[in-house]
Amino acid sequence: MTPRTLLVLHGPNLNRLGRRDPAHYGTLTLPQLEARVAAWAAERGARTVFVQSNHEGALIDALQHHAGTVDGALVNLGAFTHTSYALHDALLDFGKPVVEVHLSRLAEREAWRQVSVVRPACVAAVDGKGAEGYREALDLLLRAIAD
Ligand code: DQA
Repeated sequence: MTPRTLLVLHGPNLNRLGRRDPAHYGTLTLPQLEARVAAWAAERGARTVFVQSNHEGALIDALQHHAGTVDGALVNLGAFTHTSYALHDALLDFGKPVVEVHLSRLAEREAWRQVSVVRPACVAAVDGKGAEGYREALDLLLRAIAD
């Protein structure tokens, strides 16, 4: 079987991981988190392509750009999760399975964070498990791709 290729998309402020509110987001930097995700994917025979942007349009561009060449996406869209119908529509248009992941536990945070407007465009969501949640999300994504 040809190796799966997965887009891992990080939204605004996630470039600040490691320095940003470690009580919610842990102490790993984004490069460290991406290295773990790449290693977990490799163990599962999958390749990863990473994109981070603080800009909604750039995240949409990345989904459109990679749609033809990847098999699915793991997305942590940061605060755009709670606001961006444009990203919801871009995820639907992407046309491949998408799993939503968040480091923090949204149900224990502000009311506005408890709504994900992108969730209906995703096959699954994992939150509140820190970096480990990405491993679970990877497994869910690879299963959805295989189905
Ligand atoms: C986050 C949760 C969002 O509410 C927040 O805006 C983030 C990170 C998480 O990974 O827990 O930037 O997506």
